[in-house]
Amino acid sequence: MHFSLAHLSDVHLGPLPAAWAFHNFKLKRLIGAANWARKRRNLHNPDITAAAVDSIHAARPNHIAFTGDLLNISALEEFTRGQEWMEKFGSSTDLSFVPGNHDAYVKVPIEEGLVRFSPWMMADGVKDGALQFPYVRLRRNVALIGLTTALPQALHKAGGTLGEHQLGNLPPLLESLQSQGFYRVVMIHHPPLPGLASPRKALTDAAELQAILKDKGCELVLHGHNHRTMENWFETRSGPAVAIGVASASGTPQGHHEAAGWNLFRIRRQHGRWQATITRHHWNAATGRFVSARPALLSPP
Ligand SMILES: [Fe+2]
Ligand SMILES: [Fe+2]
Repeated sequence: MHFSLAHLSDVHLGPLPAAWAFHNFKLKRLIGAANWARKRRNLHNPDITAAAVDSIHAARPNHIAFTGDLLNISALEEFTRGQEWMEKFGSSTDLSFVPGNHDAYVKVPIEEGLVRFSPWMMADGVKDGALQFPYVRLRRNVALIGLTTALPQALHKAGGTLGEHQLGNLPPLLESLQSQGFYRVVMIHHPPLPGLASPRKALTDAAELQAILKDKGCELVLHGHNHRTMENWFETRSGPAVAIGVASASGTPQGHHEAAGWNLFRIRRQHGRWQATITRHHWNAATGRFVSARPALLSPP
């Protein structure tokens, strides 16, 4: 029997009322709101997000992984709306979230901001208390490992950083989960390997993360941030692993911008080996629906 895991990212929930940028004024927020009004409002459509949610629910996955950028400028009102949206989307048991740079766009006190999404970021067995990263959630023989790269950035920057604490705690976790026989899924907003994003948008410690993943191994890395379909294989001590990037879950197809997408993974252990398939779903503007491609075996090229 397989375990099915849906992956989506970069919802960028809209619309974004201009007034929200002025509450608890910060220059970066204002620039972000202007950017949204000028460009992003045409690139992210809430109706497509609603269709993505329906499409994911219809697939009845065992679990949903959401790799961040639910919000746009981290306005306080966005956290309230985001929490309501998350509550309708999935239970804290069946949906796991890691934040993106737009969920920490400016410095917001944790109790007014990210704590709203803590039910979906709590490690197993933790009911309340401070958020801890990496977090681990075990579902059947699949381990979901949540990392945060969300740190407020300078104007015009959209990078991310894991930092020493997470980089220090990740290796023993990966090792222990492998020895317990889990399929290890690492969830991270930014692309995890060097060179997968422009310097302005990149993970600053991607080289350190890559070294850990190669040394300790993992089976699958899920990420967003680039708003496009990506598949990057790399060798690890425990065999080949793949980083899969997904298009924005609200993306309108325009120019070089990819239509919205989400992925469904089916993971199973067969004859002592892991086997996983990926079924990509993309928004079809002509039919106003998400269309699924044929399931494809996840295997190195
Ligand atoms: Fe994004
Ligand atoms: Fe992002």
